[in-house]
Amino acid sequence: MKNIKKWMAVVLVGVMVFAFAACGQNKVVYKVAMEPTFPPFDTTDTETGELSGFDVDMMEAIAADQGFELEWANMSFGGLITALQSGNIDIIASGMNASPARREKVDFSETYYDSGLVVAVKAGNKTITSIKDLTPDMKVGGQIGTTGADKCNELQKAGKIKEAKIYDGLDVAMMDLQNGTIDALINDLPVTKAYMTAKPGTVEIVGDVLNAESYGIAVKKGNKELLDKINTGMKNIKENGTFDKLYSKWFE
Ligand code: ARG
Repeated sequence: MKNIKKWMAVVLVGVMVFAFAACGQNKVVYKVAMEPTFPPFDTTDTETGELSGFDVDMMEAIAADQGFELEWANMSFGGLITALQSGNIDIIASGMNASPARREKVDFSETYYDSGLVVAVKAGNKTITSIKDLTPDMKVGGQIGTTGADKCNELQKAGKIKEAKIYDGLDVAMMDLQNGTIDALINDLPVTKAYMTAKPGTVEIVGDVLNAESYGIAVKKGNKELLDKINTGMKNIKENGTFDKLYSKWFE
């Protein structure tokens, strides 16, 4: 009788260990995408070549809190929403403004960062001191699919500039701003600031912030299960100090 009990205990422990191991292996994996020329939110680690940035750290912290795993993909910003709608990816974490227009196509988490667009020029440019100084002979750059590109297209349509030059990556757009290919670049304030810090004396911000944006994490319309996890995870990492820690890591 004693022996049977012993064996039952051994078997029970064995089953439990097996169940735990199986649990670990069965963690759901979500595909998350970003466009990585958007520091400090979305960038590539210079040493490892891996995607990195505030968005990566924040999403990984949310995933750890909620017990899911992430598989990261690098995509053109202009392709993110279609990829989400078609089910190629599950999550967009890419400094994306949760705008009313986008809310018609995808669902957003609670927003996590307040931002806005600014005009940047080559350092030392005396002609352009604000968006009002842009003239119909000028070329202005923006990144494909972004609110900055929308602004450029709007200026071109209104005849206020000659050309809206739309770039795939902001790294190339910044180079073109420095070498005079474009007269100005319209992009998010914290990101243009990050480029300025990385390469002091190359470009500068002129005039006021043009609009108000708030970044959110996007999921496919109706994917309430995942959206709830992201919102709960975000709330938890805000309450337990992780969010603030990551914020100081990337912004201070
Ligand atoms: N905040 C802007 C927008 O929502 C630009 C975002 C660009 N993000 C990126 N990872 N390149 O359109």
